[in-house]
Amino acid sequence: MRLPLVFISVLLCRGLAQSTVVDNYIASESPIAKAGLLANIGPSGSKSSGAKAGVVVASPSTTDPNYLFTWTRDSSLVFKVIVDQFTQGIDSSLRGLIEDFVGAESVLQQTSNPSGAITTGGLGEPKFNIDLSAFTGSWGRPQRDGSALRSTALITYANWLIKNGNASFVSDTLWPMIQLDLDYVQNNWNQSTFDLWEEINSSSFFTTAVQHRALRQGITLAQAIGQTSVVSGYTAQAENLLCFLQSYWNPSGGYMTANTGGGRSGIDSNTVLTSIHTFDSDAGCDDATFQPCSDKALLNLLTYVNSFRSVYSINSGIPTSQAAAVGRYPEDVYFNGNPWYLSTLGVAEQLYDALLVWNQQQSIMVTPTSQPFFALFQSDIAPGTYGSTTSTFSSLISSIKDYADGFVAIVADRTPADGGLSEQFDKNTGAPLSAVDLTWSYASALTAFAARGGFVPESWGAKGLTVPSICENNPGPTVSATFNVNATTVMGENIFLTGSVASLDTWSPDNALALSAANYPIWSITVDIPANTNVEYKYIRKNNGVITWESDPNNEVSTPASGTITLNDSWR
Ligand code: NOJ
Ligand code: NOJ
Repeated sequence: MRLPLVFISVLLCRGLAQSTVVDNYIASESPIAKAGLLANIGPSGSKSSGAKAGVVVASPSTTDPNYLFTWTRDSSLVFKVIVDQFTQGIDSSLRGLIEDFVGAESVLQQTSNPSGAITTGGLGEPKFNIDLSAFTGSWGRPQRDGSALRSTALITYANWLIKNGNASFVSDTLWPMIQLDLDYVQNNWNQSTFDLWEEINSSSFFTTAVQHRALRQGITLAQAIGQTSVVSGYTAQAENLLCFLQSYWNPSGGYMTANTGGGRSGIDSNTVLTSIHTFDSDAGCDDATFQPCSDKALLNLLTYVNSFRSVYSINSGIPTSQAAAVGRYPEDVYFNGNPWYLSTLGVAEQLYDALLVWNQQQSIMVTPTSQPFFALFQSDIAPGTYGSTTSTFSSLISSIKDYADGFVAIVADRTPADGGLSEQFDKNTGAPLSAVDLTWSYASALTAFAARGGFVPESWGAKGLTVPSICENNPGPTVSATFNVNATTVMGENIFLTGSVASLDTWSPDNALALSAANYPIWSITVDIPANTNVEYKYIRKNNGVITWESDPNNEVSTPASGTITLNDSWR
């Protein structure tokens, strides 16, 4: 049972801790959120009539707004929750639904639409009709986060299947879909995109970050199933994405700027959603990937939350050390600009993720960047590392937990008696607003609750990444190049390849690509390299750390616009 606001206040006056109020809300809301999410998935969800199998309806609302469509972003985030619940053994009944999703998305990938056909940009289409046909009305397109988020959901399932003895389904069914999405990311990440709110056409932090994550996961999966020809191309663009990701940080403002265009402050829920959807507890508080407990993401959270204090009247009078209702961005005018459930829950989730890592590490590091965030809880706190035996550590953990719970308590207050979660709640009255039963709102409740409960999502390889010192921003199209070189070697000696482009590791003998000797004395590798480019390269020999380069001049190839090429060389 949900507790009405007055009752919560009474309980608080009686000294019932906020954490108990939140515990109670989670206990009653979890099954409602789960059922609400499932109700919006075809073919048998009770609120998704007309939706084909595996299709996620964004909301059953058909007017003001009409959300009876399926968005790749919403669907993929929703299915990530479902896949996590299935693979973690929380709900083993979900497998059929996941396979329906795979089926639906494989049709959508191949459906020509106003963004293009499968090989000409169609994977950037943001939304489709729920019968799996293209939506042909005007819209903010393309949106290049969808294919990345979809591959993250599919890869998470693929990893489970491999561990559970079904690698053939991965190779035969999932990998071809994943590769389409990741090739699209590889080839288009630097093209402009509408942001996740479908309004600004530029580059967008959330999109860049989820693209980066997807490529990293794709590389690991490709290696696991022997699809190694994609590895160097994906790695090169993952490096470029990680590099580009850094440019969104605005040090004087203390936040990540959500979009490179748009003419707003750039303070945006986009950035908090990025932290939670790219959380990897193995990466600790790394700020290269803006982990939830990284100093940049914490200062960003503070800046973002505070930007709504004077914008929504329901926030008036709440001290800055306490949670507030938050929305997409302070300048928002959609439905007059209101708090969103998924944004408010997103802040709680970032903080729960951060707490999880601090507890895991048994220390909290305060840097000059994150100091203003920690000063909310201890005004005189100095930069430094506070270990678990210090009173600062325990008092920060407990105050930050309270602060985080405060965001859930706000959502609890604004949840109607039946537990339904719409898209927004009114900035003046707190009443639910806009699309009812928003599937993404339910998903955001489930992930925030899970994070509070200590759920650690599968790592995606964020640990130990180093930001390249030079960013290359123009991947463009690629061709698949097979390099064969006839080279006689002595025992212990191996042949490698490097060259003038990032996918050939830019003349780095250390990172040069290893060739296979399966057809000795022909050594081979297949790599995606830039199309329409003059590429120079050399083979090198390595023998016990001794490197021998081919003699000058460099080998050269002028690549075609598309397709595959084979280079048959002899060691010089
Ligand atoms: C509909 C989009 O879904 C929403 O995000 C946007 O704010 C409005 N159109 C207004 O452009
Ligand atoms: C509008 C939101 O801005 C967008 O992010 C979402 O995909 C659609 N509504 C559907 O929920």
